[in-house]
Amino acid sequence: MNNLPTQSDDYFKKNWVSYEKVLTNNYMEHQEIAGVLHKLLTDYFQKPFSLLELGCGDASLTVQALLDTNITDYTGIDLSATALAIAQRNMAQIQCRQTFIQDDISTVLEELAASQKQSFDVIMSSFVVHHLNLAQKDRLIEQISHLLKNQGIFILIDIVRQEEETQEQYCQRYSENMHQNWTELSSQDISIIENHVYKYDFPETQATLYRLAQKHNFIRLECLYKDTSNTAQFLCIYN
Ligand SMILES: C[S@@+](CC[C@H](N)C(=O)[O-])C[C@H]1O[C@@H](n2cnc3c(N)ncnc32)[C@H](O)[C@@H]1O
Repeated sequence: MNNLPTQSDDYFKKNWVSYEKVLTNNYMEHQEIAGVLHKLLTDYFQKPFSLLELGCGDASLTVQALLDTNITDYTGIDLSATALAIAQRNMAQIQCRQTFIQDDISTVLEELAASQKQSFDVIMSSFVVHHLNLAQKDRLIEQISHLLKNQGIFILIDIVRQEEETQEQYCQRYSENMHQNWTELSSQDISIIENHVYKYDFPETQATLYRLAQKHNFIRLECLYKDTSNTAQFLCIYN
């Protein structure tokens, strides 16, 4: 089913240095997002909770958000062994049971849903789901609906297209913003990220994401944060 180009550990290694500069300079507003996530998790879970993260990368955002929360079980999935090794080091600051799985998120969700052995209070993903095509996103959200506990939350932090904006227009807008505002990056870094955006990014509109969520019996969608350039959103989807 996957007719889109896929990323690999090798791809991760080649591109992570540029992405790390983006994180260091907070160009994708990970600091603000971590703050919103921390507040949500502390307000919503005054009891112990479990969290499954899809495409955790180095888990730096998650670590910030999980400090001083009631997390008891964390599971991070990523295609890249290199990313998971960094995630594991970063997550050492958090006192909870931790599992790291190197695999494709869609494959792991299929297996977890089929086994019916585990469920989670929170399933979250930041800046990953847009790599899937529409049918894969649909299936992913369906599996998430089976794996969430009652009153669980699906947190989808991702790039989002404007209604009426085409994929091409979105990529152009993203690229223009990078050239204008990501001034600490070299032209080589910009070019690496630009290639990534045009090749791997398939953002949906908020309305499409909402429609998929409703199709799989989620009852409410709330946008808790939009970045300054209006290219990404923090969506909270309740069952
Ligand atoms: C842009 S980074 C985001 C990392 C982190 N969540 C963040 O917000 O900084 C995308 C991450 O998703 C991983 N990834 C991409 N597609 C994936 C897939 N289908 N299955 C598992 N991991 C995937 C990549 O290896 C990478 O670590």
